[in-house]
Formats: sequence, C-alpha cells, structure tokens
Amino acid sequence: MKIVVFSDPHRGKDISVFKPERIDIWGNEFSSLFNKILKKEKDFDLLVCLGDLIADKSSSEDFKSYAEVISFLKKIKAECLFVVGNHDCKNLSHSDLSKLINRKRTYYSADIMGVKHIVLSANWVDKKGYTLLEDELGWLDEELKNSNVPCIIYSHYPFDNQNLKKSKYFSKEIDVFLRERDDVQRLVGKYSTKIKLIVFGHVHQYNKSKIKGVSTFTVPSMTEDNGGKPSGEYAVIDTGKEFSLNIYRV
Ligand SMILES: [Fe+2]
Repeated sequence: MKIVVFSDPHRGKDISVFKPERIDIWGNEFSSLFNKILKKEKDFDLLVCLGDLIADKSSSEDFKSYAEVISFLKKIKAECLFVVGNHDCKNLSHSDLSKLINRKRTYYSADIMGVKHIVLSANWVDKKGYTLLEDELGWLDEELKNSNVPCIIYSHYPFDNQNLKKSKYFSKEIDVFLRERDDVQRLVGKYSTKIKLIVFGHVHQYNKSKIKGVSTFTVPSMTEDNGGKPSGEYAVIDTGKEFSLNIYRV
C-alpha cells in the first residue's frame, strides 16, 4: 500500500509570520504544489492531510475555504483522510469539521487495505494546551486493543519527545505537544507490536524519533518557505515488508 502524506499547507493566503517583507508560508501555492505531487506520484492508494489545511480568517470564510479544498482533493481516485489542525479548528467547530470531512467525529479510524489508520484530534483548552476530545483516550485504547491488523497513528500535534530548540515557530512554546503525551506514549508501549508508524505535523520541520520502539516521523509543511519559495515537501509511506516513510519534494 502506498500512502501520500502532506502537512500544514495553510491553503488560501501567503503568510508573513516574522517579517512583513518576507513570506514564511506559501499558502497560495497549495493547489499548484499538489498538482505537481499528483503528476509525480501517479499510483497511490490513500492520501492523508496532517492538518492545518487552511489559513484561518473567520468562521464563514474558513468553512468555504475548507469545503473548497475538500472538493479540490476529491478529484483524486484514492481515499482521503483528514486530520484536524489548530488553524482548521480556530473558527470552525469539531462538529462542522466532522461534517466537512464526512466522518462522525474528527477522531476516527479507517481499515484500508489491511491497515488500520487511526486519526487523532485535539482542541485548544486555555491554560491546558492541545487536549484530546471527550472519550478519545479510552477510544484509542479500544481501537488498538481490538485491532487484528497493523496500525498507523496520525496526529497533528506531536506526542514524542522531539527537541524543538531550533524550531522556527516553537522554540519557546511549551504547549506544542499533545497535552496527554504521557498517556498516549503509555498506550504506544502497550500496543507497540501492532503500531507500525506514528506520523505528526504541526511543527513544519522534519523529525524522526521513536516511542517505545515505534518509529515516529514529523512531516514538514509543504508550503514552508525555503529560500524564497515553498519547500514542496511531502511524504510517502510504503506499507510493504517494512513500514517506511520517506520525504520528497516537488
Ligand atoms: Fe498546527
């Protein structure tokens, strides 16, 4: 099974985070970058967006933008899984987003081609950080316990122990990680033989690490600035003999 994964396109506008005269995130370039990926990766079975699909503006504009990008991505033949990021749910409720992605909730699983794909979701809670939704931790335990096939976990917010001292956006933020990081890591240890890969977004830069022996990857933002142009980075997961993840560029 071949899975194309991209993260944090912030589709809709170019964003200057640090300096007004410099673009940091090339959100306007999303469609053309994605079309280039389609040209390069002809046959794949699943597309995963790791979150921050849109650049947030207001609830009405975000709803329209999210709906537009979903319909744009539906032109591909492969199935799509959407992970909700903090910019997606800044103005949109999880209820709105679950309708947009055509799922009961924004955390869910899908059994596709002999692999269980588990998508996590979280919400910002003041003074607490990015927090899993209502019954999500117990649900995750059950999903892993009951799975008879290998699993991949996707989460916008990392829950590994990566060092972010050199992060462009998060070097001083302590709230970048999932609040229940320790609990989720414990579950990863409990079911480490079933979990083949864990994939994060949010940070905009690549990282590779391990949790209890399970490989984790942070997929860089496809529209992050790279010397005056978008990086065009994305990942391909091959679930062949070994579950592997490699980063490519368009
Ligand atoms: Fe994010």
